[in-house]
Amino acid sequence: MIEVVKWSQNMQIKNEMKMEFRAVSENEALARTAVAAFVTPLNPTLEEISDIKTAVSEAVTNAIIHGYDGEDGADNIVWLSCRIRNDVLEVEIQDKGIGIEDIDKAMEPLYTTKPDLERSGMGFSFMEAFMDDLEVLSEPGQGTTVHMVKKLGITSWIMNE
Ligand SMILES: Nc1ncnc2c1ncn2[C@@H]1O[C@H](COP(=O)(O)OP(=O)(O)O)[C@@H](O)[C@H]1O
Ligand SMILES: [Mg+2]
Repeated sequence: MIEVVKWSQNMQIKNEMKMEFRAVSENEALARTAVAAFVTPLNPTLEEISDIKTAVSEAVTNAIIHGYDGEDGADNIVWLSCRIRNDVLEVEIQDKGIGIEDIDKAMEPLYTTKPDLERSGMGFSFMEAFMDDLEVLSEPGQGTTVHMVKKLGITSWIMNE
């Protein structure tokens, strides 16, 4: 399901997009490609696109592999929502999986609960490094929401519109 709402007003650009998909690994590529396409009208640099794709990819992979323990099923859904306000992108990735007991610990570099799957434990560190803001909300048994913000250098472009 894809829902797109767009409007622009004076010098403000606003756009929103929401998707939901099943927790299967193929959809990690779908999610990062969708977000990259969503920001394209704002003229992001290649580096900005690459940062965003990496962060989305890590968050979606976590939802699939950790949140739903890699199990496919009609109820195992990942929600992705994106919003642009002027030159700021907000991305949210949500699952209703197992949740995280100790968020601070989970966010430590190299920490992983799945070393057997060759996880590097660097997912949250990458999200933090490549985005301007990262917030993780989680409740054991309820699921996890990852909220990220990326500022794009397009202010001058908007001013020329
Ligand atoms: N969506 C999620 N649901 C449940 N646990 C999660 C989720 N995302 C991350 N985690 C927990 O946080 C740990 C660290 O995540 P991350 O930094 O991406 O490393 P990795 O994915 O390599 O284990 C994971 O090993 C897992 O225990
Ligand atoms: Mg990870």
